[in-house]
Amino acid sequence: MEPKQHLGSAALSRYQTEDGASAYSGKFERSPSRRRTSRREYAILESFLNQVALPEASLLNMACGAGRFVELLRPAQRSKVVYADFSPQMLEESRARLAGGDCDHVEFRQLDATRDDAIPGFDLVFCVRMLHHMKTIELQNHCLDFLCGSSDNWLVFTCASKSTFKGWWRQFRTNLGLRKQGECLLAMNDLTGRLRSRGFEVISRKFVDRVFSSQTWILARRPAAER
Ligand SMILES: C[S@@+](CC[C@H](N)C(=O)[O-])C[C@H]1O[C@@H](n2cnc3c(N)ncnc32)[C@H](O)[C@@H]1O
Repeated sequence: MEPKQHLGSAALSRYQTEDGASAYSGKFERSPSRRRTSRREYAILESFLNQVALPEASLLNMACGAGRFVELLRPAQRSKVVYADFSPQMLEESRARLAGGDCDHVEFRQLDATRDDAIPGFDLVFCVRMLHHMKTIELQNHCLDFLCGSSDNWLVFTCASKSTFKGWWRQFRTNLGLRKQGECLLAMNDLTGRLRSRGFEVISRKFVDRVFSSQTWILARRPAAER
């Protein structure tokens, strides 16, 4: 099956090869700036997980990639954990990363957020660095349906945001016809509305680096009345 958003995306094709998946696995250790980015992302995640304050909550890690963040997500403590990705090669990287860490109960599933139906019943759905690959509103909406429909309570995810300098600049160049490819940028008020229409309120938003990165982390939650 050829995933729909594959067309025109070299990165997504790479993630579906053994070499590409294994290269991604070490990506955030390879240069000082990537290590800095990674440290910042770990700090953001830690602060979000402190707000969620449910260390045993069931977890769906969608687009798990090579299993980054396993130290903070602590799958071993949780009763129900699914690591999902559309790339079998990435799932293998995650499986290797989790091996030997009391993670025998973790389920690894090949799922495509642009095609598959949500799998409801998780306290926390986590999805980092996937949404910016979605080139059309239709694909983004299917992913948001998948993520929101799978979470009974909390959602942690990232997107590329126009509210950063890098995002604004890229959008500016796109508007002038100077940029035809690359990450898909979202406006925060539009995203907030799309989440609200799916029953989620944005609780917190954190930038990785407002000048040099467009990646933005969102913590969202279903209001108590809708849980
Ligand atoms: C940039 S990597 C991020 C991996 C991991 N979340 C991280 O932050 O290290 C993007 C991941 O999204 C996965 N992915 C892309 N499109 C997807 C889709 N439609 N459904 C499921 N996974 C997808 C890719 O295979 C890849 O593992």
